[in-house]
Amino acid sequence: MSTAAEPTYESTHSALWHGFADMGAVTSGGPFVVSRGDGAYIWDREGNKYLDATAGLWFTNVGHGRREIADAVATQLGSLAHYSNFGDFVPETTLALAERLGEIAPVAGSKIFFTSGGSDSIDTAAKLARRYWHEAGKPDKKLIVGRQKAYHGMHVAGTALAGIPVNRENYGELMPDARTVAWDDAKSLLALIEEVGADKIAAFFCEPIIGAGGIYLPPEGYLQEVRQICRDNDVLFVADEVVTGFGRIGGSWFASTRFDLQPDLMTTAKGLTSGYVPMGAVFIAPHIAEPFFAGGVWWRHGYTYGGHAGAAAAAMATLDIMERENLLQESARLEASLHTHLAPLAAHPRVQEIRSGLGAVAAVQLVDPAEALPFVKTLREHGVSGRAAGQGAMQISPSFVMTDAEVEELAGRILSALG
Ligand SMILES: Cc1ncc(COP(=O)(O)O)c(C=O)c1O
Repeated sequence: MSTAAEPTYESTHSALWHGFADMGAVTSGGPFVVSRGDGAYIWDREGNKYLDATAGLWFTNVGHGRREIADAVATQLGSLAHYSNFGDFVPETTLALAERLGEIAPVAGSKIFFTSGGSDSIDTAAKLARRYWHEAGKPDKKLIVGRQKAYHGMHVAGTALAGIPVNRENYGELMPDARTVAWDDAKSLLALIEEVGADKIAAFFCEPIIGAGGIYLPPEGYLQEVRQICRDNDVLFVADEVVTGFGRIGGSWFASTRFDLQPDLMTTAKGLTSGYVPMGAVFIAPHIAEPFFAGGVWWRHGYTYGGHAGAAAAAMATLDIMERENLLQESARLEASLHTHLAPLAAHPRVQEIRSGLGAVAAVQLVDPAEALPFVKTLREHGVSGRAAGQGAMQISPSFVMTDAEVEELAGRILSALG
């Protein structure tokens, strides 16, 4: 009788090609296989439990294992999985979601364009910004400006705008008319406008908090200053709130609301469905939408799964939970709690600094960036699922249901992993 061993990753070398990975290293080390989640915890396939420091890729804002969202999606799929969002079609739930998002938009009267995720939202905003200026009779306004350290997803437009050079290199020119300015100095945006002329610039893309580039909080007054520069020079201000949107900023639905940025365009995804199913949305201020709604203009742009009905049901259930459990306030609580409990780690010789104090987001910056990836593995041995971002920063972006006691436990586990 055959007693063949269970096939393992090592014996099969798995068919999976992971994102953002050196597959040689993944193959030799084996994957970290996650089996289930509940609240602020996940379990691997061996049954080991981990505090989830990052809420997956910044998205599980309402926590893992919400049966309510799964049930809402199942009910929707059983009645109508999806149909179409093109022309005059729209699933009923998608229409209801657009109305609901319009009510919490940072700019009153905004229109909502649904996408399948953050990179789609960025591509949509980049195309829409240029097309808007065409409709406004200024077709030379094509240049799109991003910032150093910025991450705007991995479609062609987002990659071209990336301020993380390694994400952009070796593909040739991805998108003409893309430039990068300093991430923390509004004057460098002004200098670029003076160099190339406002009549050539379509838009400025801005993450209110730099996320994947290493978690850098905006310098005091920076967001308001760049917003004003854009207003003064007829450059569209695009807030990339894929990470900060839907409560991550603490106390507000959006950073744009908290800082009164009144964005011309706002890109979102992740927290919209808490990552239960893929979905994104671009919020379009009424003056930008106006030429497209006046009649006679076709915008030939859209995604098959943009506004997917099942995803819309997940978003509705997510918003219900956010409201019922006051999770915007819980996120504000975490802003203070992370700040308090992580601060003592700054004294550790392997830690350069802690960045925290704005939203349910923080970074533990290691002195030696080369230690970041091994440290992620050490963290796992200490019961924490973490992730490296930027140059040696440990990303801390828990779900909003993480309690203060769990934050304290998280800080303690990080400290013991630091040794
Ligand atoms: C600020 C920002 N913009 C855009 C994206 C792209 O989103 P997605 O990975 O859903 O395409 C991300 C993803 O992390 C992001 O952090």
